[in-house]
Amino acid sequence: MSKRPSTLPATSPFDQLTTDVLDGLHKSPKELSPVWFYDETGSSLFDSICDLPEYYLTRTEQGIMQKHAAEMAQHIGPGVALIEFGSGTSVKTRLLLDQLERPSAYIPVDISREPLLDAAGLLARDYPELHIIPVCADFTQPIDLPKRVAAAQRRVVYFPGSTLGNFMPDQARQLLTSMRRIVGRDGAVLIGIDLKKDPQVLQRAYDDQAGVTAQFNLNALRHINRELGANFDLGAFEHRAVWREDKSRIEMHLISTRDQVVDVGGEHIAIGRNEHLRTECCHKYTLEGFAQLAASAQLAVTHVWIDAEGKFSVQMLQPKSIQ
Ligand code: AVJ
Repeated sequence: MSKRPSTLPATSPFDQLTTDVLDGLHKSPKELSPVWFYDETGSSLFDSICDLPEYYLTRTEQGIMQKHAAEMAQHIGPGVALIEFGSGTSVKTRLLLDQLERPSAYIPVDISREPLLDAAGLLARDYPELHIIPVCADFTQPIDLPKRVAAAQRRVVYFPGSTLGNFMPDQARQLLTSMRRIVGRDGAVLIGIDLKKDPQVLQRAYDDQAGVTAQFNLNALRHINRELGANFDLGAFEHRAVWREDKSRIEMHLISTRDQVVDVGGEHIAIGRNEHLRTECCHKYTLEGFAQLAASAQLAVTHVWIDAEGKFSVQMLQPKSIQ
């Protein structure tokens, strides 16, 4: 029996993971969840992606934080409990923490335990005064937050990295709704949202010259092979980034280069030559489009910070007052 994937929640037993993968492979077109990107190899490949010349997202968002974190902190105010979803290495968070006035706590929430604890440990060294309470959880499910959060003067959820873009509009609305409930009437959400732009720029960002994104995409298959005992042939798939104007999103696909049969969880899955497996959707928003999505979760956009080239945005949202 294979070991449970370190990147997936403790609440997902091996059988559930296998069932989820099979469900995706029984769809037409076939799909796999982007959570499979992030084993140890995948996380380090993602770090390399962030440094690629074509991948403007991380660099641009960090630039926005560098320039405007002080102003963001002003709007957040003193004594905040800062809850971060999918905290990872918390690089952008430091830029914000540096500016906050006497934060009452920092609560990084992440699904992978080891990286979460490592990052919290490093942060604790640099911010000895800060109360850091790491929570290992799947933020798409209801989370038990520490008591200190409820007691804080103000609660703010920080969700950088354009991760919301990975969710389908319905799920994104649900996730925003759960953030609104966590922060309460007087709280706020600070979120990184990638903006719609020239499809060629997106194409290059998701299909780089050096082929790092291709490796990152293929690694999902290696991860599934290892954790679920499947036998995907990594040599028989090609990476492709596909822009879909109708959905305003760039998709990552793996395309089968031949007819093949893959064994997953005791099933034989036939995959035809040129058949696509969709591994990720990255939605790109206009400012109006995102404001509408936020409004559907009863959140109003109160502040928007954008880089000079209009590539990326960091937005502050507050619960709409209910009449
Ligand atoms: C981590 C979801 C923000 O959508 O750009 C990078 C992941 N996929 N290259 C993104 C990713 C391909 C990334 N997010």
